Amino acid sequence: MEIKSTVGNLQDQQVDTWVVGVFEGAQELPTAAQIDQSLDGALVELLRRGEFTGKTAEVTVIYSLGKLKAERLLLVGLGKEAEFDLESVRRAAAAAINRARDLGAQHIASELLGVGKANQAPDALAQAMIEGSLLALYDYKSRFGLKPVRNNPQDLLLVASTQAELEGMQPGIHFGQVSVQGVTLARDLVNLPPNTATPTYLSGVAEEIANQYGMKLTVGDREWAQSMSMGAYLSVALGAEEPPKFIVLEHNPERADLPTLVLVGKGITFDSGGISIKPADKMDEMKSDMAGAAAVLSVMKCAGELNLPLHLVGITPCTENMPDGRATRPADVVTASNGKTIEIINTDAEGRMILADALVYAARYNPAVVIDLATLTGACVIALGDNMAAGLFCTDDGLSQRLVESGQNTFERVWPMPLWDDYKKAIESRYADIKNSGGRYGGVGTSAIFLKQFTDYPWAHLDIAGMALADKELPYQPVGGTGYGVRLLLDFLRRYQ
Ligand code: BES
Ligand code: MN
Ligand code: ZN
Repeated sequence: MEIKSTVGNLQDQQVDTWVVGVFEGAQELPTAAQIDQSLDGALVELLRRGEFTGKTAEVTVIYSLGKLKAERLLLVGLGKEAEFDLESVRRAAAAAINRARDLGAQHIASELLGVGKANQAPDALAQAMIEGSLLALYDYKSRFGLKPVRNNPQDLLLVASTQAELEGMQPGIHFGQVSVQGVTLARDLVNLPPNTATPTYLSGVAEEIANQYGMKLTVGDREWAQSMSMGAYLSVALGAEEPPKFIVLEHNPERADLPTLVLVGKGITFDSGGISIKPADKMDEMKSDMAGAAAVLSVMKCAGELNLPLHLVGITPCTENMPDGRATRPADVVTASNGKTIEIINTDAEGRMILADALVYAARYNPAVVIDLATLTGACVIALGDNMAAGLFCTDDGLSQRLVESGQNTFERVWPMPLWDDYKKAIESRYADIKNSGGRYGGVGTSAIFLKQFTDYPWAHLDIAGMALADKELPYQPVGGTGYGVRLLLDFLRRYQ
């Protein structure tokens, strides 16, 4: 669906479908008074009778029967005016576009939903409308030619009421389209089957990004990782026939004048648990164990597209975690690239092993900030819930605060969790410096304190285990890969200075 913009009145737009937003409990339609007049007051009557309440994402269809320039009008609820924010816009836009598509609408024009309310600038509103509507239309099967493309609308025209508003919208229109591309790529990579989206496949994606935006690319194979003494990462790859790839993308590599930020994404393309094998039930969901890597690669692509003024490095250690005659055993001891020895208690605690060497590798850039994203622990999902928020562990209060804010801006929420030193007790080992599992209690905290042993810079860890997949439909989110983290990080990066 193409996004267009213009200045004028909705009632002058020659399209098949118009979209108008209505706040909950509203008794009049300030932005559509003229349209209502053409319909002899039918809209206000609808509100007066309470047949349309304006709850977020409620949609009603009104046929114009020749009284308007459009065939139909969609009223979409924006929720309570006092609670109005960008998430209301995303959800309303998603609901409107879904209904429009179901009705076979081809050309849609919409007012800027909630314009003038809650101090939201036109560019933020336009961005939210684009994200909500385009992300709602995501469809894996049609993207990969497994079924014909659905009857998607051809275009969505955003109608500004003044020239200034139209100009104000433009940066949001651009940013929104780039961010949707990024989320779409991340969703694709998570949804693709694990025999397709292998470490080698992900390195191919990285190569395309590097070529397209002139980034520096390093793809380390098994021998390369050996030469780097990455014993923790390699211990996970031991059982995998599929070649591991340690991928590093660098945007603006020569720009010493720009702040250096490093993003690290867990790239387990399939997590069977290894020798500590997982139960069969839902094991298929472990194709999503590379959602951190998918988000990081997608953010790198967006950084290239937006030409962000940052020296941005994306590191994705990728491998399968498989059982095999040569696979790592529980009780094995391995040495990470910083010389720390790790006793492997559970081969299913593999994410922290591959991240350990990636976090050590990140230090070579002398970064101002390192952020890792990892589907790390089931314990985080138990603590915060499914699709609620990522767990945030952070060594820097300012960084933590900015991530929380970006989480609020994007509704890709993060929730601060404690990084108490006392958690270290649980990962003390009799046979090595530390062990890779601290047991059941506080499993999310002990995984984070494990990772901390490999960092020496301002660092944030996002446990996204509960965020990578949607097992039921959510607003602007079909079942499957969510692309969580892309919009969060883009918001964070664009505000970073
Ligand atoms: N990839 C899993 C964590 C996970 C669980 C992600 C559910 C998404 C949904 C991770 O590698 C894992 O297996 N973690 C173990 C750690 C334990 C063995 C210490 C866990 O959470 O059970
Ligand atoms: Mn695991
Ligand atoms: Zn895992």
